[in-house]
Amino acid sequence: MYDHLTVVDHPLVQHKLSLMRDKSASTAKFRQLLREISQLLAYEVTFDMEMEEVEIETPLCKMMAPKLSGKKMALISILRAGNGLLDGILELIPGARVGFVGLYRDPETLQPVQYYFKVPEDLADRLVVVVDPMLATGNSAVATIDLLKKAGATNIRFLCLLAAPEGVARMKEAHPDVPIITASLDKRLNDHGYIEPGLGDAGDRMFGTK
Ligand code: URA
Repeated sequence: MYDHLTVVDHPLVQHKLSLMRDKSASTAKFRQLLREISQLLAYEVTFDMEMEEVEIETPLCKMMAPKLSGKKMALISILRAGNGLLDGILELIPGARVGFVGLYRDPETLQPVQYYFKVPEDLADRLVVVVDPMLATGNSAVATIDLLKKAGATNIRFLCLLAAPEGVARMKEAHPDVPIITASLDKRLNDHGYIEPGLGDAGDRMFGTK
């Protein structure tokens, strides 16, 4: 369907996702599971980060050891639900830079309109990972990536918890160069724009709002 779609079909990811989908999961549990899954997805999204060999000394001898090289990644959170994926990834990659993109939907045109945009300056030199738990219509993802490309980003990946086929198709059309990494490709979008079977409103579930 999409050459660049990776579904992380790992038992731990799938188990934790099922716990998150369950409507009886508390806010605290949902948040903790999201943090844990974000780290497992981060493992997949970073599989080809640049490395260099540096000399270190173990208690026994010197050796050339692999370390991450170059500039660390930039994580871009689509407000507000994207923030739920940040902490876990930052725990693994504390040197990552972080940006935020805020969009709302114009009630007449239904198109996303930017209300906040603050990202690291040197996006062109970094692996840019856009995070948002739900790839639903794909409108916010596409608008965010449009903005990031205008700001100079060239190496972009999109990390989400769930993807709808409609969102994946929209991304393929608008940004075929951007790989999508997700825990599940769900069945469909319903008439209200929710992913089914999904997990409901990710922002509400992680922040305890309604
Ligand atoms: N955003 C959500 O939080 N949930 C959906 O199902 C779709 C978009």
